[in-house]
Amino acid sequence: MKVLLLNGSSHPNGCTHTALHEIALTLESSGIQTEILFLGNEPVRDCTACGTCARQPGRCAFDDDVVNRIIEKACEADGFVFGTPVYYAHPSGRILSVLDRVFYAGKDAFVHKPAAAIASARRAGTTATLDVLQKYFTISQMPVVSSTYWTMVHGKEPADVLKDEEGLQTMRNLAVNMAWLLRCIEAGKDVGIQPPQAESGARTNFIR
Ligand SMILES: Cc1cc2nc3c(=O)[nH]c(=O)nc-3n(C[C@H](O)[C@H](O)[C@H](O)COP(=O)(O)O)c2cc1C
Repeated sequence: MKVLLLNGSSHPNGCTHTALHEIALTLESSGIQTEILFLGNEPVRDCTACGTCARQPGRCAFDDDVVNRIIEKACEADGFVFGTPVYYAHPSGRILSVLDRVFYAGKDAFVHKPAAAIASARRAGTTATLDVLQKYFTISQMPVVSSTYWTMVHGKEPADVLKDEEGLQTMRNLAVNMAWLLRCIEAGKDVGIQPPQAESGARTNFIR
């Protein structure tokens, strides 16, 4: 079993990475494989609503080595953690641009797989940030993994995060909950419990 962790900061080893690393260590010690994927710090294109992905599902037309790579990795992953720094009380523009394209083109790679969001902030804006990231999960039939407190750490530098013992504890508790849920899903499949088939086809665009 594998969990893919996305670092939506432009700092490869900053505060967000420090929190994700704590989660990854705990997952690994529970026997779950992990990969932390850094989204990079080059400019990232956002979704242009070109609609090409409707004709070629599973791929974004703009092959910039971030979005399509995440979709490919998501197909192989069993669970996800999305991590972001807080910018003006919302997730980084980088992670939103990437996730809009990833989910519009490749949602099927995520459906019915558990996921968690975490945020890193110097001080405030965290719950609004988490709310935005969790919406990708709840529109995609993904069970949301929670912890024992809001899934955030505080710091400007990684050294600050390492001093945030409650934040790190919250990361570890998130990880053990993720490991538990993954094992429950696997055990369910072993006895024939498959994910449900959702109804589809209704597109009521004009409700006022
Ligand atoms: C453009 C920008 C906006 C920010 N806005 C906030 C904010 O609204 N609230 C906050 O607490 N920290 C804010 N910060 C600080 C970062 O969220 C914080 O330092 C974070 O832990 C950095 O994570 P990283 O090292 O992974 O990039 C902001 C930082 C930047 C660059």
